[in-house]
Amino acid sequence: MIKVVLLGAGNVAFHLAKAFLHAKDIQIIQVYNRSEDAFKFFPDTINITSSLSEILDADCYIISISDDSIAGFSATLPFSGKLVVHTSGSVAMNPLNSKNRKGVFYPLQTFSKNTEVNFAETPVFIEAENETDLQLLQKIGRSISEKCYNITSEQREKLHLAAVFVCNFVNHLYHIGYELTTKNDIPFDLLKPLIKETARKLDDGIPSAMQTGPAKRNDKKTMAKQLEILHLQEHKEIYSLLSNAITNQYGRKKL
Ligand SMILES: NC(=O)c1ccc[n+]([C@@H]2O[C@H](COP(=O)([O-])OP(=O)(O)OC[C@H]3O[C@@H](n4cnc5c(N)ncnc54)[C@H](OP(=O)(O)O)[C@@H]3O)[C@@H](O)[C@H]2O)c1
Repeated sequence: MIKVVLLGAGNVAFHLAKAFLHAKDIQIIQVYNRSEDAFKFFPDTINITSSLSEILDADCYIISISDDSIAGFSATLPFSGKLVVHTSGSVAMNPLNSKNRKGVFYPLQTFSKNTEVNFAETPVFIEAENETDLQLLQKIGRSISEKCYNITSEQREKLHLAAVFVCNFVNHLYHIGYELTTKNDIPFDLLKPLIKETARKLDDGIPSAMQTGPAKRNDKKTMAKQLEILHLQEHKEIYSLLSNAITNQYGRKKL
């Protein structure tokens, strides 16, 4: 059995804990969090603590806290020589404190406590300082996911940046679509088949081959009319920026 302690009790730690509870060969022996409030989301069967001095002895410690706090927090851990990894896409491995062996265990997915996640299909990207630790992380990764890959900090930084574009930015565009529909008495749900088909089409080819719409066709009159309909200056700027980027990509004239 590989003993794992989760350090942090946010969205990622919550989903990791759930996945590890069902994983063969992994024992989630404890969850630490600085405040006790978040423990209410975790099953009663898991040992919890909010005291650093009570952290149990484990084979691997997974820090899953806010990016900016990872380095500082790793320095406060009251043990040394252990494998300590973090779950961030954008933080390199190196900032982890050198008193412990460093690693990364990055699950590429969008996690919220109130949404189910299929961990088996979630790619996990790992990094470690030596082969033995890499193999341990591989075992942990493969216990919950069918997709576990080695990746350098430099590659992971780019991967995470790509994820910000295809997930966080796209979701903000859904939000604008939500506002435009619901404020005009149109249910947002009516857009969902379009949203799903846009994502599904990526199974058939690369994104640039799937682009459609007024900017791709350079339909200037349609674009000018849509710009006029938008009330918020910020939305107008986003519309123009994205339309120009699309038109440029396909070699047509700017808006
Ligand atoms: N959410 C995602 O979709 C996702 C996906 C992949 C990777 N990640 C990465 O996973 C990590 C955790 O993300 P999350 O979304 O799970 O975060 P989250 O839900 O916002 O939870 C943040 C956690 O960090 C703890 N924390 C914040 N500052 C701290 C400090 N100074 N010292 C100790 N603990 C501190 C919080 O403790 P309190 O409860 O006490 O405030 C909480 O447990 C991040 O590195 C993130 O980049 C996130």
